[in-house]
Order: sequence, then structure tokens, then C-alpha cells
Amino acid sequence: MGTLNLIHNTPLIFLDKISAGLPGKIYAKAEQLQPGGSVKDRAAYQIILDAYQTGTLIKGQTVVEMTSGNMGAGLALVCRQFGNPFIAVMSEGNSPARRKILDAFGAEVILTGQVDGIPGMVTGKDIAYAMEIASKIADEKGAFYVDQFNNPSCFKVHFHHTGPEIVQNLPEIDVFMASVGSGGTFIGVSKYLKLINSNIQCIVVEPKNAAILKTGKVEDPRHIIQGTAYGLIPPHWDETLVDDFITVTDEDVLEMTRRLSEEQGLYVGYSAAANVLAAQKHLMAQNRALNIITILCDSGYKY
Ligand SMILES: Cc1ncc(COP(=O)(O)O)c(C=O)c1O
Repeated sequence: MGTLNLIHNTPLIFLDKISAGLPGKIYAKAEQLQPGGSVKDRAAYQIILDAYQTGTLIKGQTVVEMTSGNMGAGLALVCRQFGNPFIAVMSEGNSPARRKILDAFGAEVILTGQVDGIPGMVTGKDIAYAMEIASKIADEKGAFYVDQFNNPSCFKVHFHHTGPEIVQNLPEIDVFMASVGSGGTFIGVSKYLKLINSNIQCIVVEPKNAAILKTGKVEDPRHIIQGTAYGLIPPHWDETLVDDFITVTDEDVLEMTRRLSEEQGLYVGYSAAANVLAAQKHLMAQNRALNIITILCDSGYKY
């Protein structure tokens, strides 16, 4: 079995300690267990498979992508297995641990300056600048530019893998919720779940001050939920999939991050904690015995 066989088929964990005392149950896909340490390994693998199949990528050709670190780790390890060099272009506002991980997986890393964010808080403008540089480098090198926000492989993989895995893991699902970066996870999984049962509610998780999908505006682009909520509406966003929105504050996300590691034994990142916090808030507001499924997007070791 090769390394790439470790991608997909993550376990679904019942968060018994977090669910205790709540009217329903919270379950989470343990994406931090993927070989690159995040949910983005799935998209990275599909992107490279599809690019080979369509002939847009050939053996030995360089691959370039803008990343908040997680897509980069996934692409670095997948590209190495396929024999393609990989260049990661990343805003310097992302945690230094992410740079170390990219180095370790053999990526060439190019850091770009922040436009209006601060270290640990990467904004939409910081991302747009990193994307501009990534696209320029790809042009200059005749490389394959991944362009995750526009690449349909990102949605396809969650429709064909994550969604079906969730249904196999737990057939009785009432609610799915996820935070949104490129939107690949939310769109792909929600499309699949609604196809098999239109009663399943799909809920978007956003930081309170940058809830652009809910409110259409961003009060403050800075928040700790790295990899998500860039203050932009993803190009393939499909609002017909959204039943509701739940917003969370940095302070409450930090507290849930601590509870997940201390009480539940799950050392995960901020978007994972934001998802679980939103699930808890939803159960408290609804006061019903719902089964909620969400995503533990990445590992706490990345921060
Ligand atoms: C930590 C983290 N959580 C959540 C996401 C969101 O995933 P998606 O791009 O599928 O919306 C990302 C994306 O990079 C991420 O890095």
C-alpha cells in the first residue's frame, strides 16, 4: 500500500464529551488524520489525478498553488508521489508551523507580504495578493496552476468521497455543518447529502465579524479561523445548498479548541473547533435530538 492510499476514509468520531448534556449528538470526520494533516489532502489528490487525466499536467512538470498551508501540504506530498516538483505560495501571515510542514514535505515555499492582515490573521486581500504572485510564477515557469478556488476537482472529491463516507459512517443524519474556504468541502458534501435525503439541513459556519456569506459584508476581515472566511464569496458558491448560517467569535473558538484537546483528546485547529462550536450552538438553540455531522479540518500541530 502506498502513501496515497492513506487519503480518504477517515473515521467518524462521536464527540461524547462535548455532546454530554446537549439534546442531540455531535459527530466529526477526523480529517486531521489524513497524511498531510488536513481535509485538503482529498482535494489535492483529486486535482492531480484529474490534471493527469485531462493532460493539463504531465510527469516532471512543476505545480504551483497559493495556499494557507493545508492545500500546500497535500499537494506537496501528492506531487512528490507522482514525480512533480511543487511550489507553494503562501501569505507570511499563516503560522510558521505551516512553512515548516511544507519544507518537510519537500515543497519550494515562497512567502508573500500581508496587505491588511496581521500574523495569525490572513485576510482576503492577503490571499488575493498571494494568488496574483502564484499565477505569475506559474506563467513564467510554464507550470500547472492549481487555482483551488476555481478548480472543480475540489468540489467533485467531496461529492464522490467525503459525502458517501459520511452516509456510510452514519446513516441517520439531520444536519451537516462546515466552515468555508474554497467552499469545496461544504458544496461537495452538501450536494451529495441533499441528493440522497433532501431533509438534511446544511449549515455554513462563519466568524461573526467576517460573515460575508450570511450578511454580504465584512465588518473586520481579521479572525483566527485560518484557511476559511477570506471575506470573499467563493466563485462556485451555491446558496441553494444553504439552510442556515451560524456565526462564532474568536474567543469562543479558542475555548472550544481547548475543550476538544483537553476533554475530548482531539488536538485540532481553529476551523475544526469553530465547526464543533457551531454544532453545539445549534443543538442548544434547537433543543432537539438531532444528529449533527461536521469536519475536524486539520491538526492542532499546524499552529
Ligand atoms: C484549516 C482549514 N479549515 C477549513 C478549510 C476549508 O476547506 P474548503 O476549502 O474545502 O472550503 C481549509 C481550507 O484550506 C483549511 O485550511
